[in-house]
Amino acid sequence: MRKLCVIPGDGIGTEVTPVAVRALQRLLPDLQVVEASAGWGCFEQQGNAVPERTLELMRECGAGLFGAVQSPARAVPGYRSAILTLRQQLGLSVNLRPVRSWPGISPRPGIDLMLLRENSECLYIGQEHMASADKAVAQRQITRQACAILAQRAAQVVRQRGARRITLVHKANVLPLTCGLFRDTCRAVLATEGLDGLVDERLVDVAALQLVEQPQRFDVLVTTNLFGDILSDLASYWSGGLATAPSLNWGDGIALAEPVHGSAPDIAGSGRANPIAALLSAALLLRYHWALPEAATCLENAVEGFLNDTQGADLGTQTTERVAEGVLARLELSQK
Ligand code: NAI
Ligand code: MG
Repeated sequence: MRKLCVIPGDGIGTEVTPVAVRALQRLLPDLQVVEASAGWGCFEQQGNAVPERTLELMRECGAGLFGAVQSPARAVPGYRSAILTLRQQLGLSVNLRPVRSWPGISPRPGIDLMLLRENSECLYIGQEHMASADKAVAQRQITRQACAILAQRAAQVVRQRGARRITLVHKANVLPLTCGLFRDTCRAVLATEGLDGLVDERLVDVAALQLVEQPQRFDVLVTTNLFGDILSDLASYWSGGLATAPSLNWGDGIALAEPVHGSAPDIAGSGRANPIAALLSAALLLRYHWALPEAATCLENAVEGFLNDTQGADLGTQTTERVAEGVLARLELSQK
């Protein structure tokens, strides 16, 4: 029996995750759901942003759905962003970020790309120090092992999508050791997978420009943590913005679906949080972790049908419940 650990977190995380859970329960009637806590509210109550029990429940279930967490703008002793802890502690080493055009809300049709972002290292290892009063230094870590895992996942995604091109994004002209290791390892793994004919490369600055000018040219993009963080937010513009951008933190036999957006304190509690990113994140869990591509397509089609019929008119006003009802009704119809 499939199990899901739901971690709503803070702010609109608690509003959008129940919608995605309802959709998953409709598609998988015997899904067993448990709830776990994490985030700023949890830190204030328990002194820990990710309690050990949450990690245990995630490991037990193997699959999770995360909402969003709030992080204070100032450094708070003992506090570390919950999602970073979850990614590291659970070995969620790859982040999948699809971007596609949706009817009624996307600025341009015809875009359908998948960005794979390394999720555990690069500048995000948090190794910063003051070398002197006027000099701050951050370390960037790139390992062959993490790049190899990333490239293996890319090969899996390429086969599942029937992709025609894999673009490695780096800055090896300026960072020949770190970016060079990334590029060479990815190339070697993709060659072993028999996919070398599809591999292409871009420097990250050029990739940024082309993602703005000609996003429809990309298919599968593979990149390091910081570049992936920035490029995926940029590319999410084409899908209609942050409120529709999904992601999947993908480990070995364990995965945590997560909308890209944060806790949106400016609209939390108003009922206007858009649950589409959370719904599409649940679809990633279905497709890539549970290997249920038909159920994933069913959910994506329900979102697409809703957006096509409403042309995005309900977004921004009483969004959460209207979108939930619209998408869930279409899901029900498609199952009859
Ligand atoms: P944010 O993503 O929370 O909000 C940015 C803007 O987009 C806001 O105007 C918000 O109202 C809007 N927005 C975001 N998601 C939406 C949705 N589903 N429906 C409708 N509108 C939506 O980013 P922001 O404001 O920079 O950060 C707020 C808090 O969230 C901070 O404490 C930050 O640290 C945290 N954060 C957490 C993330 C996570 O849990 N993975 C990711 C990004 C930020
Ligand atoms: Mg980001």
